[in-house]
Amino acid sequence: MTLEVGQILMAVALFFSTDAIRIDTTSHSHQSRRNTGTEVFSSPFLAEHRVTNITTQIGTHAYLPCKARQLANKSVSWVRVRDDHILTVDRTVFIADDRFQSFFVESTGMWTLQLKYVQARDAGLYECQVSTEPKLSARVHLHVVVPRTELIGESNRYVKAGSRVIIRCVVRGALEPPSYVFWYFGLEQIFTDNRHGWIMQTESESDTHSTIASLIIPSARKRDTGNYTCNPSNSDAVTVLLHVINAEYSASAVTSAASGHGSVQSEIVAIIVAVLVHFQT
Ligand SMILES: *[C@@H]1O[C@H](CO)[C@@H](O)[C@H](O)[C@H]1NC(C)=O
Ligand SMILES: *[C@@H]1O[C@H](CO)[C@@H](O)[C@H](O)[C@H]1NC(C)=O
Ligand SMILES: *[C@@H]1O[C@H](CO)[C@@H](O)[C@H](O)[C@H]1NC(C)=O
Repeated sequence: MTLEVGQILMAVALFFSTDAIRIDTTSHSHQSRRNTGTEVFSSPFLAEHRVTNITTQIGTHAYLPCKARQLANKSVSWVRVRDDHILTVDRTVFIADDRFQSFFVESTGMWTLQLKYVQARDAGLYECQVSTEPKLSARVHLHVVVPRTELIGESNRYVKAGSRVIIRCVVRGALEPPSYVFWYFGLEQIFTDNRHGWIMQTESESDTHSTIASLIIPSARKRDTGNYTCNPSNSDAVTVLLHVINAEYSASAVTSAASGHGSVQSEIVAIIVAVLVHFQT
């Protein structure tokens, strides 16, 4: 009798323990197969399923990641979503644009699409696809930042001979400040050791993502009249036309010219004033 009870208890204990083991294996089976099983190697998966955002600046190189692990012998393609153009299949490039290239890094399991000298029209969605049935895919949204150059002040400036002139331009919205800002007088580049004694300065503010470039003319002469161009490495050039006016011009003529009217008009104003003054005396 006691033996029977003992056997029953043992049977019950065994039942529960095997059941417990069974439950345990079930709940961990997914995990353990991931780690050790062979099944997973025949079914590729993409590590990231959400859209990844990549922000790059125009003219630089962009790297679009695709974490495609356990691919067995499946190929990985990159497709431009805008026009469904196949860009690469594994390492082979399928577009007549040598800026595109695809490479694999074994250690990270990453298929990267490299796009050199990014242009504004490259912005948009790209899709990484694994040739399984059904197809696996992940998307990358490429954002292209285009810095802009602005002139500080008027693009037509009138100054009196002998005055100190500062011409400034600002580069806004760049991820990285320009590596240089060139200045030109007409078509001629202005160098730091220029014979005019002109000074060039560049200041970058990281929090506002802006760079201000200045060209300082300590004492403007009439022959300094002309076009001055600010040409940053990563942004468009802007030009200011500087008019250096002889000091004997009346102050009123210079003021009216500086407020946006043509110099011919201001000269006429000066002549009229002169004639009126002549007749009054
Ligand atoms: C990607 O950028 C878009 C805006 O263009 C935003 O709505 C989305 O949340 C971003 N996704 C991630 C994962 O940062
Ligand atoms: C991949 O291909 C190679 C030869 O091309 C073959 O030896 C290997 O077994 C294949 N692997 C899988 C997982 O299909
Ligand atoms: C400045 O540039 C403008 C436009 O390019 C041109 O028409 C003008 O002749 C130039 N002026 C001088 C003084 O070089």
